[in-house]
Amino acid sequence: METEILRTDTEQDTNETVRSAVGALQSGQLIALPTETVYGLAADALNPEAVESIFAAKERPLFDPLIVHLPHKDAVRDVADIPEEIQKTVTQLIETFWPGPLTLVLPRRPIIPDIVTGGLPTVAVRQCDHPVFHRILRNFGGPVAAPSANLFGLLSPTSAQAVLDQLGGRIPFIVDGGACSQGLESTIVRVQPGEHKPELVILRPGPVTEIDLKKFGKVIFAERNTEVEESAPEAPGMLENHYAPRTALRLLSDPAQFHPEEGKRYALLSYRGQPKDGYLDLHDWDEVVVLSPGSGRVAEAGIRLFHLMRQLDQGGFDEIIAEPVPDRGVGKAILDKLRKAAVKELNA
Ligand code: TXA
Ligand code: MG
Repeated sequence: METEILRTDTEQDTNETVRSAVGALQSGQLIALPTETVYGLAADALNPEAVESIFAAKERPLFDPLIVHLPHKDAVRDVADIPEEIQKTVTQLIETFWPGPLTLVLPRRPIIPDIVTGGLPTVAVRQCDHPVFHRILRNFGGPVAAPSANLFGLLSPTSAQAVLDQLGGRIPFIVDGGACSQGLESTIVRVQPGEHKPELVILRPGPVTEIDLKKFGKVIFAERNTEVEESAPEAPGMLENHYAPRTALRLLSDPAQFHPEEGKRYALLSYRGQPKDGYLDLHDWDEVVVLSPGSGRVAEAGIRLFHLMRQLDQGGFDEIIAEPVPDRGVGKAILDKLRKAAVKELNA
């Protein structure tokens, strides 16, 4: 199959692209679309056969459920059956964070096919904040299921080229909407009734942080349960060996522990690129890339993470050494990705 790139460089390009994209969704085809977080691989959420082909293209296990993207905020009530006790909180979260990088896990309505939710009684929903995605969904008019547009377990794509590298030849269309502004997948939160106030269970950390969520309910980080994880994890973003470059990656909290082997090539994924942290001085790296060279700190690092991991992955190094980032704000999401990328069985 030939993969066609649909451009959005001019207004006329964009109009044509929106038309083609809507046509593809209506006819049950797959299309990779830009979002503000990462590129998604979209299909009509109400068409089980179309959704099935997402799993095939990504080689994704069927138990790993998909996020449903909504054309407008009110559509949440069409797909989710929100219990009385959490209605106010859900409305506040939606009004505050949508469109944007917050996915809510809520009890589902039967309209959503089983294949979308992996048979779970809940559905994950969000409204994405990307102008082209938004136009396509508005014109399509219904919900679209879209996981990240990568092969299962590999790096999430933050550009059309990154999608093409992994899914080229497997899908008919990619809409090129430029680089993703957030660069990290949405925060996933399950909203559930609690003893005194609703509980917000963070299933996957992301751009919307614990601090952002605190005033809306009791924030809880989901515990990893390795036994359950093997078969049907609660949010398989929680699976080990996810977000992995093909090159071995090690997250190193003490630079003094690094003993390079003779003749091997090493790249450093540095947080600030500052010698005082120790990572730069101790070894003559074959390549150094810096996650936050500017004043943006963890937020800037989040935007650049997947892009830079992909760049290093193409450099033919024996190993990528990653410096930890601060464990706060978006830093939690970055550490989560680095830890998972570092648990290695190589995807050869
Ligand atoms: O930013 C994002 O969320 C991107 C863009 C494309 O929207 N999408 C994305 O999708 O990251 P994906 O499939 O790569 O990750 C979705 C995660 C998976 O870990 C899945 O297990 C979890 O959402 N998920 C989906 N439905 C769920 C549910 N009902 N309960 C718990 N977790 C769910
Ligand atoms: Mg993914």
